[in-house]
Amino acid sequence: MKTDEFRKNAHELVDWMADYMENVESYPVKSSVEPGNIFKSIPAEPPAQAESFKDLMKDLDEIIMPGITHWQNPNFFAYFPANASPPSVLAEMVVATLGAQCMIWETSPAAAELEEKMMIWLRDMIGLPKEFEGVIQDSASTATLAAILTARENISGFSINNDGSEDAGTLRVYCSGQTHSSVEKAVKISGIGERNLVKTPVKEDFSMDPADLKEAIIIDLERGLIPCCVIATIGTTGTTAVDPIRAIGEICREFGIWLHVDAAMAGTALILPEFRWMIDGSEYIDSFVFNPHKWMFTNFDCTAYFVKDAANLIKTFEVLPEYLKTRSRGKVNDYRDWGVPLGRRFRALKLWSVIRCYGTDQLREKVRYHISIAKNLAELISKETDFEILAPVVISVVCFRYKPENCDATKLNLLNENLNHKLNDSGKIYLTHTVLNGRYTLRMVTAQTNVTMGHVEAAWDQIRNTARTLEM
Ligand SMILES: Cc1ncc(COP(=O)(O)O)c(C=O)c1O
Repeated sequence: MKTDEFRKNAHELVDWMADYMENVESYPVKSSVEPGNIFKSIPAEPPAQAESFKDLMKDLDEIIMPGITHWQNPNFFAYFPANASPPSVLAEMVVATLGAQCMIWETSPAAAELEEKMMIWLRDMIGLPKEFEGVIQDSASTATLAAILTARENISGFSINNDGSEDAGTLRVYCSGQTHSSVEKAVKISGIGERNLVKTPVKEDFSMDPADLKEAIIIDLERGLIPCCVIATIGTTGTTAVDPIRAIGEICREFGIWLHVDAAMAGTALILPEFRWMIDGSEYIDSFVFNPHKWMFTNFDCTAYFVKDAANLIKTFEVLPEYLKTRSRGKVNDYRDWGVPLGRRFRALKLWSVIRCYGTDQLREKVRYHISIAKNLAELISKETDFEILAPVVISVVCFRYKPENCDATKLNLLNENLNHKLNDSGKIYLTHTVLNGRYTLRMVTAQTNVTMGHVEAAWDQIRNTARTLEM
């Protein structure tokens, strides 16, 4: 593709992108294709002869788009959001055009130094203590793996990295029953082992009970096991419960255990001063992760990972083959040493674009609005006698179920599962579920970039009306 041709195609493509953004609400939120449909529509063999970009765009519209679930549709209330925004998309275009691989400072000094500055901006925006340093990772799962590996090395005096785990004893990791599954994955990969992940029970509000945590640690110590890391969550995936960081931190300090905080979704709410209570006790935190690619309008992927002592992280990951030796080593941040991958995308540019184009004031205003509409939705639900709220509404997630009279527990679960499927099959809204105390629970997340109270009210009407037509 010659430059002239690229220019023409790119202009057309930008029109396609702007049209998509303008019309995203008209697409069915959740794709309804059958498994295998898309696969079958794509030729078995790659083309031997060049095809036109126009043909590619035609197939994008006809084959690919029906198989897309539209996360940028404001009627997307499922999971946690993966919010994009025009400033973020524009920056992503620049990143793709530059095609820079930013593994070390020398391979693009601007990428390394912008990343360093963006992590300082973000750290200060969310109120983490000044000694924290940050690095951008691809996902919270990767950051949590990095945290557990660093905790493992920290407790073993960096011996497992060198000698393997044969003489290291049995390490233990602690979290609550509501912690995200990325922790389970990380203990498997880190060699600590899934059976050494201790999940403590949660309190009525679905947060970790520090008394249970302490008891589990004491029992392990009596058995000769080695407490290594506690994962506390600010904003659990199911209900956005907030584990009490100060109380957990005091226990970690008492027993010399690494404290990692997973704030993947709720970290964005920390840009609001009125939500800083969630991070009370931050002086005890060793590592902290949150995802601007969830709620902070920075399209996937962009995870902010902060550590109190970067030297520990670097010592865990650093290797120095001949071909990566540079004259700037030691004077700059070579982020390849701050996590698993060598190759790194220039993700900081998206953050720079988002933060500058909106400013912290507009970011705060939007996040506050999302939180206010969750509260309004909870009020609407509470007014109906045949619905019930199943968890405290902390930020932008409302957990509830349909509960008509004379229905036993099994039937209620079935009814709500059917309701969920029926709503999602309508293509008008998309919400997902969790199970709380054995109850099938609908979760409605009011944090999509462009969601308004109008969307939430229309969705709530649809939920209520659909529920009341279900066969019992
Ligand atoms: C609390 C929490 N932690 C971690 C993750 C994993 O995030 P990622 O997809 O960035 O690995 C999620 C995903 O929703 C989450 O809710």
